[in-house]
Parts: sequence; C-alpha cells; structure tokens
Amino acid sequence: MLVVVTGVSGTGKTTLGLGLSQALGIPFLDADDFHPPANIEKMSSGEPLTDADRQPWLASLAAKLLEMEGKGGAVLACSALKNAYREQLQVSESLRWIHLVGDRDLIWQRMLARQNHYMKARLLDSQLAIWEQPRVGHLVAISGTPAQVLEVSLHYLKMQDMKMNMGVIGMGVMGKSLALNLAENGVSVSLYNRFVAGKEEGIAQKVLLENPEFTQMAAFEDLAAFVASLATPRRILMMIPAGAAIDAQLDALIPILEKDDLVIDGGNSFYLDSDRRVNRLKEVGMHFLPMGVSGGEEGARKGPSIMPGGNAEGYAMVADFLGRISAKDKDGKPCVTYVGPGGSGHFIKMVHNSIEYGEMQVLAELVHFLRFGFGCTAAQVSAILSDWGKGELKSFLLEITADLLLFKEGGELLLDKILDQAGQKGTGAWSLTTALEYGIPYSPLAEAVNARGVSGEKAMRLSFSKTFQHEFQKVEGSLEAWLPKIKEAYALARIINHEVGFRLMKMVSDTKGWGLNFNEIARIWTNGCIIRSGLMERISANYADQVAFFEIPGVKEQVISGRKALAELVGLGVTNGFALPVMSAGINYLLGRITADSSASVIQAQRDYFGAHTYQRKDDPSGKFYHTQWTNS
Ligand code: 6PG
Repeated sequence: MLVVVTGVSGTGKTTLGLGLSQALGIPFLDADDFHPPANIEKMSSGEPLTDADRQPWLASLAAKLLEMEGKGGAVLACSALKNAYREQLQVSESLRWIHLVGDRDLIWQRMLARQNHYMKARLLDSQLAIWEQPRVGHLVAISGTPAQVLEVSLHYLKMQDMKMNMGVIGMGVMGKSLALNLAENGVSVSLYNRFVAGKEEGIAQKVLLENPEFTQMAAFEDLAAFVASLATPRRILMMIPAGAAIDAQLDALIPILEKDDLVIDGGNSFYLDSDRRVNRLKEVGMHFLPMGVSGGEEGARKGPSIMPGGNAEGYAMVADFLGRISAKDKDGKPCVTYVGPGGSGHFIKMVHNSIEYGEMQVLAELVHFLRFGFGCTAAQVSAILSDWGKGELKSFLLEITADLLLFKEGGELLLDKILDQAGQKGTGAWSLTTALEYGIPYSPLAEAVNARGVSGEKAMRLSFSKTFQHEFQKVEGSLEAWLPKIKEAYALARIINHEVGFRLMKMVSDTKGWGLNFNEIARIWTNGCIIRSGLMERISANYADQVAFFEIPGVKEQVISGRKALAELVGLGVTNGFALPVMSAGINYLLGRITADSSASVIQAQRDYFGAHTYQRKDDPSGKFYHTQWTNS
C-alpha cells in the first residue's frame, strides 16, 4: 500500500505519517529528506521554492514511491500543494491520498510552537496561496487530536477497500441531504460531484469534511473511480438538474457501468423524458428508476416522500434503502411505493407539484385578501391559519404560511420586503400541457401557473395600476361574520385542487395502462411531501377507483356545504379589486362539473350556424348528427 499525506507546512504530516506507518506496518518517508541542498537553503532563508526547484525533488519522490511499492508500500509525508505535483506522484492506481487541512490560525500556532525546523513560519501564507483543492483522496481536518486524525485517516483507508452500497451523483442541496440520510440509516455511500475549475472544486470532499460523524462515506471527483467504489450490481442515484444534464450524465455513465446496474433519477424530470430513458437503459441491460422526491431540503435529510417508477426489478434493488430513508405514515409504513412503469414516478411528482402550486396560490390569495380587504394584521392572519391548522384543514403549507406571517427582519415583516414575482421551474406548466393533451379540464391548477406568470410582469402591473387607478377596496362586512364562510371556501378550493390533480392522474394512468393505485399514492403523500395534509389522509383512507373523487365520504359533504361560500367569497374579492384566480377558477370548474344542462348547446348551435359542424339532439338518443340551414341565404 502506498499512502501520501499532504498539506501545507505545520498541518502535522509527519505525526500522521509516522502514526500510519506504525499502524499499517510499512516504512515512513519524509519528502523533506529528498530535497536537494539548494532547496533546503532557499527555504531556510525564507524564500519560497519555484516549480522549477520542485521538479527534481518530485521526480525523485516518484521514483522512490515506485521502488517502495515493489517492497510492500510506504507512507510518504509531502506538501504536494498543487494538483500537478500530485499527478506526478500518482505512480500507482492503488496509491491513496490523505490531505490535511485546517484554519490558517491553527496552523500558524502549531508552526510557532515547532522548533528545529528549517521552514520559516512566514512561508505559510505563500503555501496556502498556492494550495489547490485536491481532485482525488480524502480531506482530513487537523482540528482534532493527533489520535483522532489518525483514526479518521485509517478509517478512510479501510473504506477504500470496501465497496459502497450506493452512489449519489450531485452534491446540491437535495443530493447532499439524501446522501447524509442514507449514511445515517446505515447505507454506505459514495459521493460524486463533478469538477469544474474555479466553480465546483472539492464539493463532495467538503460534504465529508463537514459531516465527520458519518464514517460510511467516500468522496470522488473522478466518475470512473466513483463507479469503481460501488458494490455490484451498482446502485446510483442522480440528483442533478432535469433536462439535458441527465442525458449527458447517462452518456458518461453507461459506458463505464455493467449489465444489471441501476441508475435512479431523483430530480424533477419530465415524465416523457423518463419514459424514453427507461427504454434506453433497458436496451443496454440496465435498470432505470425515474423517482419523484418531495419534501425539500429538510424532507430529503430527515424523511421525504419518495415516488419511484420505471423498472420494477430496479426498484427491488433499492426498496429496503428507500424505505429506511423515507418519511413514515401514521401507521409507521414508509412513504414510498413502487408507482408503476415508465415515467409514472416522475409523472405523479409533476402532478404533486401542480397541486402544490394550487395550494400555495389559494393561501396567497387568502392571506392577501384578509390583510388588505379585511384589514387584518399579518399576526391576525397567522392566528386564523394556525387555528384552522389545528383541525381537519391541517396541512404543511398552511402551517408554514402561518409561520412566515410572523417572521420579522429588523423589527419589520420580512414578507413585505419580498418582491412579488413568483419563480417556477417547470413542473406546474408541464402538468398543464399534459392536461391539455389528455383533454382534462385543469383550470384551477392552470391558474396557479398563470398567476406566477402574471406576477412576473411587475413593470406592466405597476404601470397599469396607475393607468387604471386600481386600488384594493376595504370589505364592508365584518370579519367575524365572514370567517366561517372563508374557512368553508378555503376547504372547498383545496378539495377542487386535489380533484383536478387526481383526475389527470387517473386519465393518464388509464390511457397508458399504468394501473396506478391512488390510495397508495395518497398514502405516500400523507407525510414527508409538501402537500401532506389532513385532507390527504382522508383521500388515502377513502379513495377507491370506482368512486368519483367528489363523492369520497367526507369530501362530498364539504362540496355541498362549501359551494355557496366559495362563490360568495370570490364575488366579494373580485368586487373589491382582488384577483383570486385559483379560487374563482375553482368555483367555475365545480359549477361546470355539476351543471346538468350547460350552455354548450349555444356553442354547438353557433358551430353549426357558421361552419356546418353538426350537432346531436337531446330528443334523439341514437347520437345521430344533424345539420340545420340556419338562414335563408
Ligand atoms: C417538493 C417540491 C420541490 C420544488 C419544486 C417546485 O415536492 O419538494 O415540489 O420539488 O419545490 O421544484 O419548484 P418551483 O416552485 O420552483 O417550480
């Protein structure tokens, strides 16, 4: 075994090197002993070495390492500050790197305490200035005692010979949190983050360094080394942005993976792309799992809702791990289930997000109306929402909205300082285009997407508000009288949002033959995810394919009782100058769906009038098409 311990002067390379040499039973070499006299003289006079000075020194070290490999190995302590120097010393694939790192002040203290060393303490800054983030090996913090530093290093070396249970690609917020969640739940995990000079350097190493309590982790910037570190068949979770990056990552992975390996896409990819990727990996004998993950950073770290679809064999390879890291429902069952074939896991995550958009927008509409129409303070609105959240209206989004209404910055409400332009990453809009493609009315959730679009046109809104002298009007009635109705209206608007989403899921599932299980989907959404709520628990307990969503016990009663309240609230809001797009689309959608005799007869008559498009008649059940000559001309 060859081990190189690197670091700037004063980090304790010799101490660690000697400790490793003793523990591993191989000789210790100090790179300082290999400097030509001219270099030692230069350093003693406080003059930094140039790259040219280092060349002969590095060459002799490389030769020595090769020689020692043949003799059973060695531990070398060497500053090796730049990657170019490290590459020169990488004489063998089995050579392992331990890079000692620490605060400048701590190193400085240690250097001052040292005696009989030719290195001047003032050279430290020049060394730190040229030190480069390593691309391979393991960073070890020197803040611990020498015994702790030795223990961490030995552990790392041991892990190098161990194959990891799982690999995670992408150390963004979600990837890092899921990796730590896996490690905490006893799944050894290799972390990979690409190397982009000056932008993404040592990212995976940093995760290791910041989480020393998780010893079952290894970090990589080299994809091949990352893949080689995994037990076969390999299980790799990609947590990188949706779109072209996924295909590019698969292009890089497929040639270095083997038959039966599994790749999981845990991002918010578009489900049709995922359908295609399942087939792509199938063709090369590998498994692909498009997997929705909901819960944000905290969920990913402590227990998300997980929606894997795609290859069922692939799911079986990670079912245990996913069960361990997911949230648990009220009965303690993991909030993860095999959703169905193809891109169905990403499809239901997309619909989850569109319901999320609708739920967020309804709350935004209510908060705004209560504050500026009814004149409530933010704290009063927060209290109203908190009160609702104690009963059957409880939901994660309600809870965080009540919370954010109390958040102050410098004594002032932060909410009022946040620019009113909502962002979006695509899943809401994809749901809308999918609904259009499948002919499913989606107006309430579509309005949530549109409202974000309208919010983006801030300059135009400002200008038009002046042109049209728009101002919010204060509501004349009392809040006490309105509050029970507002609560009923809110409950119904939420039911409508969910009905719209579940209806789209059912239609697509039936058309594609996915056989989605909606009780189970609702169950895994009862905890961990952003739309977890009391309503979701009721849906999970009572939804059955043969029952229309609005007729679910408990839901039906609220549809009946809340209808008038929602209509009245929307009327009151728009009359007083408040845009309530999701709530108004919701009541229109509901009325449209429960109206037996609709206005569509007029549309059919118009179509036939101007274009001879024909129509069917109520008094002819045969379904025959008629055309009328509407004018004499
Ligand atoms: C979740 C969230 C998460 C994220 C979405 C929506 O379930 O954890 O839905 O996936 O919030 O990407 O983001 P946008 O609002 O930016 O579209």
